[in-house]
Amino acid sequence: MPNYCITFSPTGGTNRVADILCGALHSEWNRVDLMGEVTLETTQNDICLIAVPSFGGRVADLAVQRLKGITGSARAILVCVYGNRAYEDTLAELYDVVSAQGLRPVAAVAAIAEHSIMHAYGVGRPDEADARHLADLAGYIATKLRKGTTDLTVPGNRPYKDYKVAPMIPQTSAGCIGCGKCAQRCPTGAINIVDVTLTDTAKCICCMACTSACPVGARNPDPKVVEFLVQRIGFMLIDRKEIELFI
Ligand SMILES: Cc1cc2nc3c(=O)[nH]c(=O)nc-3n(C[C@H](O)[C@H](O)[C@H](O)COP(=O)(O)O)c2cc1C
Repeated sequence: MPNYCITFSPTGGTNRVADILCGALHSEWNRVDLMGEVTLETTQNDICLIAVPSFGGRVADLAVQRLKGITGSARAILVCVYGNRAYEDTLAELYDVVSAQGLRPVAAVAAIAEHSIMHAYGVGRPDEADARHLADLAGYIATKLRKGTTDLTVPGNRPYKDYKVAPMIPQTSAGCIGCGKCAQRCPTGAINIVDVTLTDTAKCICCMACTSACPVGARNPDPKVVEFLVQRIGFMLIDRKEIELFI
């Protein structure tokens, strides 16, 4: 009975949460990376842990498209990871996308990781307290998996809120060493592999994969725009949010 840990994680926070949960569930997991194209046919005995970040309180369009490569009737543990503001309709959308593919959601988790644009928020998360919390929640999920029931309600609005994220296309600065790691990591091929200073703005989804892939910190969104965001919505990200389980 194969289990699949399926993630879309441009800057690694979603992967860290998924790894903790998968580890606590004490199973063997095959990794499926939605940063690239994916085709996976599951069966009713399979279990998929599917983890995505919240972008503007939604699932990023690209992750939605890539999830359409996964079919079959596996049971699914849904995970949304957000940057300590809010995840709004992310779990509802993830539930709907996955269900439309034939999978059967049994549990959902909303967890917190460092904000991948406004790094001052959610710093160091998932932290040790989160890891303990996730391990506890894994126990409840394992019990439900053993029971075999698949009833689940997740929070969120339908129709979902509009997908609105601030335009934050990262730019290459003078410190660039031309290693090309940003272009290799970009999930949409938006960065020119020969001249990484060239970005196809129509393809960029502002996921910050390039920023986190850069070994010398030379690829960043405009600091003035980041500061504007901090001034405008930073107050919403100050209080520590806690992990939630829906089961
Ligand atoms: C374009 C974009 C939009 C985001 N929107 C939200 C949001 O609405 N609420 C929130 O709490 N965090 C938001 N974040 C932060 C991410 O959800 C958070 O940092 C997450 O851990 C990123 O996942 P990753 O590390 O796997 O890339 C956003 C980040 C990006 C890049």
